[in-house]
Amino acid sequence: MAAKIIDGRKIADKIYDELYGRIEFLKIKGILPKLTVVLIGDDPASAVYVRMKAKACEKLGIESETLTYPADITQDEIIAICDRLNADNRVHGILVQMPLPIHLDENAVIERILPEKDVDGFHPVNKGKLQSGLDTFLPCTPFGVQKMLQYSQIETSGKNVVIVGRSQIVGMPLALMLAQKTEGANATVTVCHSRTKNIDFYTKNADIIVAALGQPEFITAKMVSNHVIVIDVGVNRVDAPGTEKGYKLVGDVKFDEVAEKVRAITPVPGGVGPMTIAMLMYNTVKAAKS
Ligand code: GUN
Repeated sequence: MAAKIIDGRKIADKIYDELYGRIEFLKIKGILPKLTVVLIGDDPASAVYVRMKAKACEKLGIESETLTYPADITQDEIIAICDRLNADNRVHGILVQMPLPIHLDENAVIERILPEKDVDGFHPVNKGKLQSGLDTFLPCTPFGVQKMLQYSQIETSGKNVVIVGRSQIVGMPLALMLAQKTEGANATVTVCHSRTKNIDFYTKNADIIVAALGQPEFITAKMVSNHVIVIDVGVNRVDAPGTEKGYKLVGDVKFDEVAEKVRAITPVPGGVGPMTIAMLMYNTVKAAKS
């Protein structure tokens, strides 16, 4: 039986519907939410993501600005940019698009952004708050995954969630979020990674699999049971000779064969991606409110 397709665009639209009213309310109070995105270098995928973020702001009536700098910008220059944005009262949210060129120290940049403007939820203060179960900016992709499960009425409480991938942006924060004693969580979480032996053992016994390892089509039909729900966080460009662009986007899950077997699955594109952007908008509105 073919899986139910979880439509991230539709769920993102529901988040936007909720945000419109909150943005109007802020505007009545004289607050115009503003997000500043910093893009360094010429990575084509990053440029696409940044454009999508600006488009979402425009759609919602959030002011946005994208500052672009060449790849040879120095560490001191990027730190000075963070300081200027921190001091600018009109800027509520700051996002420095990752990855940065290798000569730059990502952690130092993240730590320089004021925690109250860190709409990515990457600052150690905000990570610590998440770990402690305190109110904070949740990182947008794991936040999007959690909202997606909630809006799709997929129970996590008492379920076995297997996250494949332990990145600081997705796998690790999502594990913390889903293990919390809160609504939309209470899961038994397993994090699999490159040193895990027999990943199949974990994925076959999962109620929910989150694939977030960044390897094209890693999760195959033989690794999953037929009752599982599969959330695919991967966005990988693979060669597609003969197509207009010369490449296509695939997730970390071999979609066609896995969708034939499982209960529900997110597509790529149109799954987690739109949710990430919706939660960035949510965090920007939250930053403007406080
Ligand atoms: N690069 C890939 N995902 C993200 C994200 O969520 N935030 C930032 N700043 N960079 C990213």
